[in-house]
Amino acid sequence: MTRRAVVIGTGHYLPERVVENAEFEDKLDTSDEWIRSRSGIERRHIAADDETTSDMATQAALAALTDAGLEGSDVDAIVLATSTADLTFPSAATMVQAAIGMTKGFAFDVQAVCAGFVYALSNANALIASGQANRVLVIGAETFSRIMDWTDRSTCVLFGDGAGAVLLEAQDQPGTTDDRGILATDLNSDGRYKDLLYVDGGVGTRSTGHLRMQGNQVFRHAVEKLAQTAHTALESAGLGADDVDWIVPHQANIRIIQGTAKKMGLPMEKVVVTVQDHGNTSAASIPLALSVGKKRGQIKEGDLVVTEAIGGGLAWGSVVLRW
Ligand code: UT7
Repeated sequence: MTRRAVVIGTGHYLPERVVENAEFEDKLDTSDEWIRSRSGIERRHIAADDETTSDMATQAALAALTDAGLEGSDVDAIVLATSTADLTFPSAATMVQAAIGMTKGFAFDVQAVCAGFVYALSNANALIASGQANRVLVIGAETFSRIMDWTDRSTCVLFGDGAGAVLLEAQDQPGTTDDRGILATDLNSDGRYKDLLYVDGGVGTRSTGHLRMQGNQVFRHAVEKLAQTAHTALESAGLGADDVDWIVPHQANIRIIQGTAKKMGLPMEKVVVTVQDHGNTSAASIPLALSVGKKRGQIKEGDLVVTEAIGGGLAWGSVVLRW
């Protein structure tokens, strides 16, 4: 038997305020047409002034627990992917821990920007596989609205806020490619590309800073690296693209999503797409798409799901799991 990390619950949270593309037309030299055609984004949710990353993460975590019929006290660990934690420390994960009434176990943040959720999922899988935890909440939550330069049309129209969560549980499986649970992971980073996507603030500058991105340069890396990491993870699972039921990609740009699916030889009918409604929510985008995809009736038990993401670092990776 093989100890696998199986998804037993999903949930998400989106802030109430929805900002349509047209709202930017009054303030910036941009248009709904440009944003839609270049990115596929139509609207995004923006957190209220008093709403934090840990608040949204808590709501997503509670929804995932409800979905699984469990409570905070049933969880051993929280791994929370974010680049926009409420405070420099403690981690947003420990704030969620307190908020969901979990008084044992451990909680920590993972920071790999838009690739954060695949990094968190991979780490949670290792915790379960090694027997260090039996149930792990894996959360992606971001308030990128707080690090936007709202005068920079090349970035501020692209991002949004939100949170998603999955609850993983250790289950003994036969040890074949038909097993439920995480079957393979692949993580990569290359720090030489720091200047393509970064925040120009932090502890070193005593400021929060703003996101800076050379979008077209990131784009050039994205399709190739995403298709490659998905291929590597599938291969290490002993599977191929033909076995895939759903790609659940990081939702940054519909053209990247389409290009990656094409490179993998898969039709868009097999891709969960939420970018039009959420924009780029960084580490939150994949768990949001998993939760929405399940609610829409797209992802069902037994389906083979491939997640892939790339972001600042550059950091990128993929996780192959059977739902
Ligand atoms: O999630 C983390 C990873 N990030 C990503 O995956 C983002 C990857 N990059 C992208 O999604 C795309 O590169 C963008 C959507 C950011 C931009 O699309 P693009 O087709 O690469 O456009 P571009 O950056 O080459 O810019 C084309 C033109 C430029 O004008 P000129 O220099 O050709 O005159 C920009 O100044 O579009 C201009 N532009 C805009 N025009 C209207 C940039 N932003 C805007 C805007 N409205 N909001």
